[in-house]
Parts: sequence; structure tokens; C-alpha cells
Amino acid sequence: MVRYLVTSALPYANGPIHFGHVVGAYLPADVYARTLRMQGEEVLYVCGTDEHGVAITIGAEKENRAYGEYVAHWRGVIKSTFDRLGIRFDVWSGTSISPCHAELSQDFFRRLDVGGYLLQREEEQLYCVNDARFLADRYIAGTCPNCGYPEARGDECPRCAKWLNPLEFADPRCKVCGSRPEKRKTRHWYLDLPKLRDEKLGAWAKEHEWKPNVQTFVANQLAEVEPRPITRDMQWGVPVPEDRARGERGKVLYVWFDAPIGYVSFTREWADARGADWQSWWRSEDTRLVHFIGKDNIPFHCVVFPAMLYGVKQGYVLPWHVPANEFYNLEGRKFSTSQGWYIDLDEFFARFDADAARFYLLSSSPETKDSDFNWKDFQSANNVLLADTIGNLASRVLKFLEKYYEAKIPALSPEHAAEFDRILLGECGAFADPGVAIREFRFRRACEELAANARLANVFVDRVAPWSLRKTEPERAGAALATCCEWLAVLAQWMAPILPGKAQKLWTMLGNLGEVAEQGWPKLPVAGAWRRGLSGQRIGQVEGLFPKLDDAVIQAEIDALHRRAAAKA
Ligand code: 2FM
Ligand code: ZN
Repeated sequence: MVRYLVTSALPYANGPIHFGHVVGAYLPADVYARTLRMQGEEVLYVCGTDEHGVAITIGAEKENRAYGEYVAHWRGVIKSTFDRLGIRFDVWSGTSISPCHAELSQDFFRRLDVGGYLLQREEEQLYCVNDARFLADRYIAGTCPNCGYPEARGDECPRCAKWLNPLEFADPRCKVCGSRPEKRKTRHWYLDLPKLRDEKLGAWAKEHEWKPNVQTFVANQLAEVEPRPITRDMQWGVPVPEDRARGERGKVLYVWFDAPIGYVSFTREWADARGADWQSWWRSEDTRLVHFIGKDNIPFHCVVFPAMLYGVKQGYVLPWHVPANEFYNLEGRKFSTSQGWYIDLDEFFARFDADAARFYLLSSSPETKDSDFNWKDFQSANNVLLADTIGNLASRVLKFLEKYYEAKIPALSPEHAAEFDRILLGECGAFADPGVAIREFRFRRACEELAANARLANVFVDRVAPWSLRKTEPERAGAALATCCEWLAVLAQWMAPILPGKAQKLWTMLGNLGEVAEQGWPKLPVAGAWRRGLSGQRIGQVEGLFPKLDDAVIQAEIDALHRRAAAKA
């Protein structure tokens, strides 16, 4: 039977995450996993923090904290943001603490080496005499040879985004002590990507079905791929296995080598804790491996990691889909904590609803091109699509039942059912099963469809007008309201992956018992065969689902954002 192994890019444990990360790699994965589960699929959703590498060691050193303590702090902070947003992983771990992570990463290295997919090269690198160490990646600063930006990092220029070789800096500087490093010889291992491409990856990538924005990227990457260094002269990280080190000491695996192996080691951690078999997830043709990532992670998930999975020759699955997103900005500018251009998520959740945020983030997500979090659009999504459309449908129907029908869902004769099916399903507007769009990774569309499905039921209520009908044809009025309750129940189930808290509230308000997420996925309603028979059921306490957001509240957020950015500037 097919199984879905869903992963989200492991966030670096060196700072808080923002909505750009959330919408890029976590929220869509959560919605995808929830939907598939409701549809009866077997799903495992894996994540945790990426805890090695220079970004982490620099962060910890700046704060004078032990690396392990530093990453544990951020692992917890990041997880609490996910909890508040209702993002639920089956396993959450970290690459420096997962019990088998180091061993498994070394095993990958060993097998690639034995298989002839690693090259060892002697090369010059920058060495700081003052600090007595080689300077990897971001430990070096200098002027970008490509664009002239004076604060380029050793691995990449933050201005022009070009991958850099720090040996090409005219003015290299040690980021720790500021002195000028010298060149020294050192030996490193490289992953022989051209060989892996020619043997397997090139053909695999060509026949693979990618999202259009990923397709071109992968083809370009593969065309010009070169061997990539996978070791570093550092202490913090997974050591190069001794039996393959050929006498070299003080070397660890590059963070981008061990991080994706985290997906495997966290799965193993999850499986070991419950006596399950991790290999049936990772080494089975029945597994569909889906990596949710932002676009900056495409090369590693579509080229490097698949090359590693293939190269170890252990029957690992290669990715089935990599629904990479483009970038998400805030009010037209890049999210930037240092420039004050961000949303403090603690403050956000103190004032706004997490489900409303999920809905808005998905409905504005950068699926095919860069997009924005925009405060006024957030207000409008909440007020128009959620409050006026879904919330209004629920409250006008349920409050009426409370007032005039002793809080019970009225009876429905077969004749009335047939009449109302004709109107609701045929005349009020187009409706759609949002699960189809979700399976195609079209989350914006799924949000539109949810609102459209509620909108057509509002059209139905306006047309049939049970309020006036109640006096002249009470049974017909009751039957119309019963039809609305049936529709609301379907809607609650369809809402569950995107708006899990509100869906549960609506489900309970309808008088249904249990967890809405455990009710399965409703099929697209077909005349005469979609009602579950709610007549006679007592409804629950009726409350508003989506409080509206006032202009003043939203303006205060916009003003605060500009004030903070101006203060930083
Ligand atoms: O870009 C990032 O935030 C990386 N930490 C993503 C790693 S994904 C995976 F390979 F672990
Ligand atoms: Zn130095």
C-alpha cells in the first residue's frame, strides 16, 4: 500500500522562524498531511532542527553559550511557534540529539566513499593564525568579487546571492578576530556529483514530474554540476568516520551533508520508540517521499540529497514530489529582523487567531511566484472570506434553529431533499472538493474553494429564505435549514486541515460528537446521496466563529511595523 513520507525543511536552530518560513515549508506540509490522513492514507510527517554548521557556531559564540545549549534553546522556541500555529509533526527532533543521527550520517559517508562517489582533494583554504583554525564559510568576510558588496560571507554574498569561493576575496577577514587569514593546505572530501548525475540522477530528473518553477532550476543545476565539498575543518558537527579519515583529524561532515539525513534518522527515532520499522518508510517502492521546502533549498533536495540516497545503494526512495515555494515578503519587503521588518509572532498570537493566520497565509502563499503578507489583505481574508462567508453561514442557520426549532436540526422529507438538492447543488454556484487542489499542492486554490463552498450555501439560504417561509410553510423551512446543517457538516470536514480549531468548533456546534479530523473525507456531494441524516440531532452551544478585525487594529500593526523599521534605520 502507498505511504506518504512528508518532510519539511529542517529549520536552523539559531533564531526564531517567521511567516515566510511558515508558509514556505511547514504550513502546506501540515495541511497536506492532515488531508491525506483524513482520506485514509498512511502518512508520516517528519521535522526537527538543523543544528550543525557555521551559522550555529557563530550564533552560539556571539552569545558565549555552549553549542548544545544554544541549539536546545532554539529547538524549543521554534517548536513552540509551530505548536501555536497548530503545525503537528509525528516526530520533532534535532540533528545534534537524535540518537542514531551521527552514526547514520557516517554510514552514508562510508558507503559513498566505498562506492567510489567521494573524491579527496588537497586544497588551499583560509586559516586564522590568531585563532589557530581554518575558517569555514561564514567565518570569513570580504568584498564580493561579483558585486562589490563589502560584507560578503565566505560561502555566499547576501546581496547578489552568488555562491562564493573566499579565496577569491581581495580582502578576507576573520569574522572572529578581524585579522587577515593566510592560505594553508588542507584535505577535504567532495561528493562526485557529475558521476552520480551520469549514472542515475540525470535520467531520473528528466523523467521526473516537477513543479514548473522547480523543473528549470533542476535542469540548470544538473547541467553545470561540479563535485561539492562535504567536509569542513570544525569541531561542531558529525566527525568524519575514523575508518575513512585516512589519518585526517578535526574534520566534520558539512552541515548540508548531515542535515537531510536528519529526515531518515528522525524517522528511525520515531520508529524505534514504538517498535515500528523505519525501513518500510525509507526503503520501499511504495513510499511517496514529499519534501516541502523554500526555493533556496531546491539544489539540495532535488540534486544533492537524491544523489546521496542513490549513491549509498541501499534501496532508498528518491523524492516523489518537491513542492518548493517561492519567497514570501512582508508588505513588499523582505522579512528582516535586523531591519525591524518583521511580525513578532508572540505579539501576533496574543492578538490574532491562529486559524485565521493559517487561512490567510495559505491563500497568499508564494506557490508560483513571490508573494506578500499584507496586513490589509489579512484583515479582508478574515472579515470577508471567513467571518462574512463561513462564519455568517453557520451563525445565521444555527441561531435560527436555537430560536425557533428548540435547538434541534429539523426533519427533511425526501421531496424536500430532492428539491433542495436541485437548488443547492445545481443553481447556487460552483462547488469543489478542496482535497483535490491540496493533493496538487495548490493551497491557494483550496482556500478559495472553501470560501466558495460556503458562499453558495449563503446564496441558497438567501434564495429559499427560511425566515419568511417558517410562517407559511414551516416544514419546508425546516427542511431547508436541515439541508444547510448537512452542508455545514461537510464544510467542517473540508475545513479541518486548514482551519483545524474552527472546524472542530463548527462540528461541535452542529451537535456532532468526536473529533472532526477523525470523520474521514467527504466525497463531492451528489444529489440524493450526500446527506448523513442529521435531522433530530440537538445542536451545541452557538458562538461566533470568526471575530471581525477592525480597521484601527490593523492600522496599529502597520504603524508599529513602520515605526520599528524607522527606529532600526
Ligand atoms: O535552509 C535551511 O533553513 C536549512 N536548515 C534547511 C535544511 S533542510 C534539510 F536538508 F535538512
Ligand atoms: Zn581570527
